[in-house]
Amino acid sequence: MKYTDGMLRKDALSGQVILVTGGGTGLGKSMSGYFLDLGAKVVIVSRKREVLEEAATELMERHGGEVIPLACDISNAEEVERMFEKTIERAGKVDSVLNNAAANFISPTERLSTRAFRVIVDIVLMGTVNMTLTAGKYWIANGLPGNFLNIVTTYASTGSGYVVPSAAAKAGVLAITRSLAVEWAKYSIRSNAIAPGPFPTEGAWSRLLPGNLAEEFDPAKKVPVGRVGDHQELANLAAYLLSDFSAFINGEVITIDGGEWLKGAGEFNGFDAVPKALWDKLDERRKK
Ligand code: HXC
Ligand code: NAP
Repeated sequence: MKYTDGMLRKDALSGQVILVTGGGTGLGKSMSGYFLDLGAKVVIVSRKREVLEEAATELMERHGGEVIPLACDISNAEEVERMFEKTIERAGKVDSVLNNAAANFISPTERLSTRAFRVIVDIVLMGTVNMTLTAGKYWIANGLPGNFLNIVTTYASTGSGYVVPSAAAKAGVLAITRSLAVEWAKYSIRSNAIAPGPFPTEGAWSRLLPGNLAEEFDPAKKVPVGRVGDHQELANLAAYLLSDFSAFINGEVITIDGGEWLKGAGEFNGFDAVPKALWDKLDERRKK
């Protein structure tokens, strides 16, 4: 068994309908594939209809099961409501919502216009708000249980320069996760989050490491375990949090980053750069 293998029993999500925003690309697509392996029906949602339709065909060919592609801009509340109605019509129900869609770019903050800031907040924070209100109200009005899983980032907690709109929006998503975990538990609605470290995707890499930045700032070098994440590792964690096996986990944010954020936080972690010869010399001096 390896971290690149699927972890859960084959029927772990059987009978579930999981709505995945941003499910046509990157991590959302990988997680959707694994949910299909585990018996779920998956609804993938994003703006680009052709990308979604192509992804749905590919996912069904590779994993079997049923994928319903629905085009929708999650920053638009009315579009989200219409999309959710269509989902109920076509899939019969929704058991879980995976808020995964996001937008981001790297920029010194003083170069951002308010519009640039708003575009990111509208997708990341308001998109999650729209999905959460629509699904939450539906579940509550119909006396149904539900499950939210929100993909944030490690800098939702720490903050980060150069991605400030994303950091602000993801921090808001984390606050929603923790708040509703308590407020909506009485309706049998759980809320959890995952904070991934670097997992290579075209969407994130092209926007956050444009040009030759990926060579100059090799993300693997910042991770104590010495590598970036594998999509299956994230899919394993997401499937667990959406399955009934995690029924007692509520309001949690689970970091999956090989220790990356802590490396930046520990006072002496930069001492990795001290060569062995210097440690030996310091040892000799101490022994004398
Ligand atoms: C400064 C920028 C900019 C940049 C756009 N803008 N890019 N400002 N630096 N690099 C400004 C524009 O000038 C404009 O403001 C405003 O933002 C909106 O621009 P548009 O042209 O309307 O948008 P566009 O550039 O076409 O699209 C931006 C986007 C798009 C909406 C963010 O890239 C997108 O759809 N992204 C979705 C996918 C994505 O981003 N995936 C990555 C997720 S990765 P003005 O004032 O000029 O009009 C992620 C990982 C985090 O979250 C953690 C990694 C470890
Ligand atoms: P990605 O492939 O670019 O995914 C972003 C998705 O969001 C796309 O499918 C995009 O589809 C969708 N989207 C954007 N705006 C939307 C809107 N207004 N309405 C509906 N859908 C919209 O990037 P990714 O790397 O897989 O990221 C997935 C998630 O992981 C994000 O939440 C990201 O913040 C998080 N994350 C990623 C990493 C990483 O290293 N990759 C690290 C930490 C966190 P359309 O363009 O078709 O709308």
